[in-house]
Amino acid sequence: MAPALPACSAPRRRRATEVGARLVGVTGSLETVGLGPSQAWPAREPDPVEARYLARAIALARRAAGRTSPTRRSARSWCARAHRRRGYHRRAGEPHAEVVALRQAGEAARGATLYVTLEPCAHWGRTPPCADALIQAGVRRVVACTLDPNPRVDGRGFARLAAAGVEVVLARGELRRRVRQLNAGYEKHVTTGLPYVTVKVAMSLDGKIATASGDARWISSEASRALVHRLRARHDAVMVGVGTVLADDPLLTARPGGRARARQPLRVVVDSTARTPLASRLVTSAGPTAPVLVATTPRAPAQRLERLRERGIEVRVLPQTADGRVDLGTLMAELGRRDVLDVLVEGGGTLAGSLVASGMADRLLVFVAPVILGGVTAPTPVGGAGVARIADAWRVARWSVRAVRGSGSPPDLLIEALFDEAVRRLERP
Ligand SMILES: NC(=O)c1ccc[n+]([C@@H]2O[C@H](COP(=O)([O-])OP(=O)(O)OC[C@H]3O[C@@H](n4cnc5c(N)ncnc54)[C@H](OP(=O)(O)O)[C@@H]3O)[C@@H](O)[C@H]2O)c1
Repeated sequence: MAPALPACSAPRRRRATEVGARLVGVTGSLETVGLGPSQAWPAREPDPVEARYLARAIALARRAAGRTSPTRRSARSWCARAHRRRGYHRRAGEPHAEVVALRQAGEAARGATLYVTLEPCAHWGRTPPCADALIQAGVRRVVACTLDPNPRVDGRGFARLAAAGVEVVLARGELRRRVRQLNAGYEKHVTTGLPYVTVKVAMSLDGKIATASGDARWISSEASRALVHRLRARHDAVMVGVGTVLADDPLLTARPGGRARARQPLRVVVDSTARTPLASRLVTSAGPTAPVLVATTPRAPAQRLERLRERGIEVRVLPQTADGRVDLGTLMAELGRRDVLDVLVEGGGTLAGSLVASGMADRLLVFVAPVILGGVTAPTPVGGAGVARIADAWRVARWSVRAVRGSGSPPDLLIEALFDEAVRRLERP
């Protein structure tokens, strides 16, 4: 549960009314959300009807995950007299969910309440401002789970609606947290230009990610692996180090339910000297709908890069670190510039070690299988030099665990751990 946020201060509340927000009947305590120097909006626990419609909007927004990138994952549901209409944002550049819902609602939009996961936008981006369309359609009330973290919106959509006499309500609590997590990639990208990085690992009960001989197939259960395909389908990019390509020859495509998704994540290999085999499944499967990017350094032989390019691989020669490896900071910035909002890292301990040690990882997803591999030299999830003292350990700020049940028993456990910054973004007012 998200901790309760401080109750609003009187001056801020006054300011909210000054900008024209009509405060709705509030049950429980009011919370004021600061929106920079000039605006503040009250937030409250949604009532049961609001919570039901907002939950429906969140379920719709989940459907958009992996398709709307590089924009936000948003969805709307309607409650207009007897009419119920829904809409969600399907793809970047296509109409936002509000416009989809307006089209579906037609005249029923007049006087209706719109339930949205994210505050309607108020600027011209890939599409026109949604707030204007809602005002023109005569929508009476808008209930949102959270403000749009895009600095170009961040309260301006609400301000525009309120100025036109539309009642606006901002939810807080669990629903808001769920929308924030759903949009974690969008939020990090829109505020920092970098993708949200999830490091995914499958390990044995004794903390090994492969046997001492390097065999890792399969540590986790079929149900866990099916979940990983769904995760890939929701990410813009999947990343491994060349060590994993050489050991496992993975395909890394998203095949939820056994069927390859039409829109595949960008598959990225960090490979300082371009050792990725030309006969690997990654290289032989590369194509316009299943792209592969090899991130390398000036140490890679030019001829080798040419061979990869001939096979349809995009090759990026990036700066190298002091130990001659791919500079991951530059790579992440480059991915961010290409509108990659989130990256699922499925490499071995070496890549995970670099990402954790440098603070680039936002989240760990650790599948723990009920098997024991043993072996002093068997690799563990986070390699590298590690820390010398417990006092220097990298700490996660929040974690949770759940069982991944399949037909086999007992189930795997899935641990989700968030680092500081990721929690801070989730909890921002
Ligand atoms: N159970 C699991 O979840 C899981 C998942 C994946 C792999 N594995 C197992 O892990 C083992 C492979 O481990 P691994 O550590 O070699 O795989 P890895 O982390 O995927 O690849 C590491 C390699 O990536 C390259 N690299 C380039 N730039 C880097 C940077 N900045 N930081 C870190 N690495 C960089 C390095 O090779 P260059 O110097 O040549 O560039 C490095 O040796 C295999 O046994 C595999 O089966 C297990």
